[in-house]
Amino acid sequence: MTRKGFTVQPADGGLIVLLPGLGAVSTTFIAGIHAIRKGLAAPIGSVTQMGTIRLGKRTEGRTPLIRDFVPIVPIEELSFASWDLFEDDGYTAAQKAGVLEPALLDAVREELAEVRPMPAVFDREFVKKLDGSYVKSGATKMDLAKQLIEDIERAREASGAARAVMIWCGSTETFLAEAPVHRDLETFEKGLRNNSPDIAPSMIYAYAALKCGVPYANGAPNLSADIPALLELASANGVPVGGKDFKTGQTLMKTILAPGLKARMLGLSGWFSTNILGNRDGEVLDDPGSFKTKEESKLSVLEYILQPDMYPDLYRDLYHKVRINYYPPRRDNKEGWDNIDIFGWLGYEMQIKVDFLCRDSILAAPLVLDLALFLDVASRAGLRGIQEWLSFFFKSPMSPPGVYPEHDLFIQRKKLTNTLRYLMGEEVISHLGEYTLETRETSD
Ligand SMILES: NC(=O)c1ccc[n+]([C@@H]2O[C@H](COP(=O)([O-])OP(=O)(O)OC[C@H]3O[C@@H](n4cnc5c(N)ncnc54)[C@H](O)[C@@H]3O)[C@@H](O)[C@H]2O)c1
Repeated sequence: MTRKGFTVQPADGGLIVLLPGLGAVSTTFIAGIHAIRKGLAAPIGSVTQMGTIRLGKRTEGRTPLIRDFVPIVPIEELSFASWDLFEDDGYTAAQKAGVLEPALLDAVREELAEVRPMPAVFDREFVKKLDGSYVKSGATKMDLAKQLIEDIERAREASGAARAVMIWCGSTETFLAEAPVHRDLETFEKGLRNNSPDIAPSMIYAYAALKCGVPYANGAPNLSADIPALLELASANGVPVGGKDFKTGQTLMKTILAPGLKARMLGLSGWFSTNILGNRDGEVLDDPGSFKTKEESKLSVLEYILQPDMYPDLYRDLYHKVRINYYPPRRDNKEGWDNIDIFGWLGYEMQIKVDFLCRDSILAAPLVLDLALFLDVASRAGLRGIQEWLSFFFKSPMSPPGVYPEHDLFIQRKKLTNTLRYLMGEEVISHLGEYTLETRETSD
């Protein structure tokens, strides 16, 4: 199990998944885990549970399940804790989210009801559309961070789990650019003590997690841990981090289609994406500040995949527009339309239309599971800081300074599987296919 200094410690002792935000995604995730444990459903959409990985040459016939190859915590050994500004327990929150049918919810009612959120660190300045009273109070943001640290320790102890991971499933916060207070850890901690307005609640959760040595991933597009100060803390404390923004409906489609069009050197003149969405996430995104955070995350994808600087004839004039419309009747069942204007040989124009009737939280829940389990693997392997190999799960992947983020789903997937091979001491696979490279012998 070792190679180049990587020793992946065993997965013993259980794992508690800490979830800021007990809304549609969190409750669909927790309910799903219990339903799977009871044999009521299969973990569809989860790479850790259903994915396989080829090892060695194709002729070797070694293709285990990822969870049999990498020491991953079995889902029977997961426990959960959460925070929210509404006091509803997991069952009530899941009912209100309206994602899962009553019959399925009733089958896991007891387990869901056991998840009682802890009071949130919340500030309306960052999520204008929400107003809840179940929140912590403290004279400074540092006081709030200390309360979260106590919550984390208490929850871990009460669960009996050996380790914890935190996945932000809270609402999308308003757009925030990197500010001087985010520059380094010392300045950031001063900002916590001085109540800097540039420190968002999600940053306080991330700070608390990293202080406790708990890996952190951000399922929303707000900055959160993606600032130099918190990356410094992650590095100093040897903690892995990941983010941002779960790659689910429309952007998942975009990162599947765009690499294919580019691979065939087909041109793009326009990509118009619009959505109708009626859950609480949609309501939060109805606020222009929160929408701007999401828009930035959704727009960057094509730019990085298509590389218009390298392919000016194909992508220089691409017009890319993204819209999200809050439309309550659809609840969590989002409908996303894409109109894609492409051109081919001799510049002849064509169109592709995509109408994706998707279920947001059904697509997001397995990502929470995979991120929790892989971040725990990263932690036990001694990895720290940004985990680029987890870009596969994110719309807006974090990348180290000076390196552009990788958005192409297929490169991301290759990076993920090769990282697992590398960690476990297997050869990485280049897909060179040496069997097909036999040459004719030359006589001279
Ligand atoms: N569902 C998807 O497909 C998807 C995809 C990408 C990203 N996301 C992001 O994931 C997050 C969760 O999505 P959702 O559909 O579950 O939303 P949701 O509105 O159902 O749940 C979010 C929950 O977070 C709570 N919350 C807000 N601020 C908080 C804070 N500071 N502390 C604790 N709790 C807080 C809210 O009260 C709410 O219950 C959102 O930011 C969303 O943008 C979702």
